[in-house]
Order: sequence, then C-alpha cells, then structure tokens
Amino acid sequence: MDNPLSFLSQSLGDFKPEIGLILGSGLGFFADQAIEDAKTIPYDTIPGFPRSTVEEHKGQFVIGKVLGKNVICMQGRFHFYEGYALDQVVLPIRIMAHLGIKTLFVTNAAGGINKSFVPGTLMMLTDHINFMGTNPLIGPNDDALGPRFPDMSTVYSERLRAAARPIANDLDIHFAEGVYLACTGPSYETPAEIGMFRTLGADAVGMSTVPEAIVANHACIEVCGISCITNLAAGMSGEALSHEEVTETANRVRDSFASLLEQLIGHA
Ligand code: HPA
Repeated sequence: MDNPLSFLSQSLGDFKPEIGLILGSGLGFFADQAIEDAKTIPYDTIPGFPRSTVEEHKGQFVIGKVLGKNVICMQGRFHFYEGYALDQVVLPIRIMAHLGIKTLFVTNAAGGINKSFVPGTLMMLTDHINFMGTNPLIGPNDDALGPRFPDMSTVYSERLRAAARPIANDLDIHFAEGVYLACTGPSYETPAEIGMFRTLGADAVGMSTVPEAIVANHACIEVCGISCITNLAAGMSGEALSHEEVTETANRVRDSFASLLEQLIGHA
C-alpha cells in the first residue's frame, strides 16, 4: 500500500479524529504531556509520506484524547525551507481533512515585530501575510476538498480567538492578537526586511503555518493559529538571532502554552 491516506485510515481503525494539531518548534512536548490514550505513528512508517529533517522535531502523528475530544497531532511539521515542495508540506493537512477533522490548531515559534511584544508572548493569529512567493493551492484543484478560488477573508476563527481572551486572562500570560507574516527561511530576516514587514502590517514573522492554514481554510476547516513569540525580530534587540533562543523561550512558556491550547481544544 503506497497511499498515505489509506494507510492512516487503516491504522486509525474506529478512531475518528475531530481536531488536528500542528506543534511547532519547541512545542512538541504538548503531545507527550496532554494527549491521553496516545498512540504514535512515526512519519517514516507511512508510505509516500515526507520525512522530518528538523532535529528536535520527533516526526510522528500522535492520536488520542484531549479533554475527551479525539485529536490527531503532528509532532513535527514539514517546512518549505527543508526543500519539500509545498504539496508535501501540506499533504498531512489534506490527509487530516479527508480523515474528517473539523478544527485545526496550528502553532509556531515566531519573531516579534510588534514593539509591544516580549519573548514569551503568545499571539493568536488574526490574519496572515503570505510572503513565501508561492501558494500551496497551485496545481489541479481537489474539488472534493474546496473550490478553485477560495475566499480567505476569515482564515482564523474569530470564535476561538474570543474564547482565548478570558482563558489567557485567567492564566495571566502575555497575550496578544496579530498578523503573522510567513517567509520561506531558512535564513532569519534582515533588520531592513523587518522594518518593511512592520510597515506592511505584520506583528510577527516565521517560516511556517501559512501554507497549512491556506489549505485547511480551503477545506472549510476552522483554523486557530497560535504563535509563541520566542524572540524579538532581527535588529530589534541588538542581539544576533539564534535557534537556541527560539527553543529556550518555547521551553520557558511551555506551561502557559499547554494550558491555553488545552483549554482552547475544550472550546473547539
Ligand atoms: N524569524 C523567522 N522565524 C522565526 C523567528 C524569527 O525571528 N523566530 C522563530 N521563528
């Protein structure tokens, strides 16, 4: 069998996922600590599936329950900068759509462009700017999933954002809402680029999320995006950017991030 969808449907058996989760850099711990009755399906056991190349990403699906809801979680995602075609980057989303998820939580580590953000701020996405120079829907349209020219006026669920505000307030976390801009990476941005992105209306910048959100929205899946602002964007702090800072900050806010995400799953 070389079809990843039929392989996964068979592995899932009677389990019907309602909610998809994508855990970004440094946020994979959520699957280990919050998913009950967890079963893992490593990506490298799935025929026709890409392999994860980012070191700390585990590269597996974790399926199970969060607050009684059936979730299918990607512990590790595929990035355009790894050299995958966008088709491969979004293949798991298309598969989760065919498996019947109704809601997708997509998380990432991002650099803060908005001057009111601090490392550790959790930002709910209100919208995005696709600065990747390409689009995951290019190519033949899968009419079973959605239309050729899908509307993108409200990619990110206003309902789940509204639910997040009182949760964040109770948790006493640095909480924000804003626009995420996606670049291809893998180099971080230059200070001049960050200045331009701020002028364009971006609050945060990263190297993921937008392809997955476009494909999920195309398939009429409710999308909730959460960025963990792991660092101030290039040129804002006087310090050089490093991947270590990204993972350190993600690690520092793990408890608030996990509580926010878990409670939001309860609202999905
Ligand atoms: N830029 C792009 N991607 C990122 C950053 C950043 O500053 N921080 C974490 N991911």
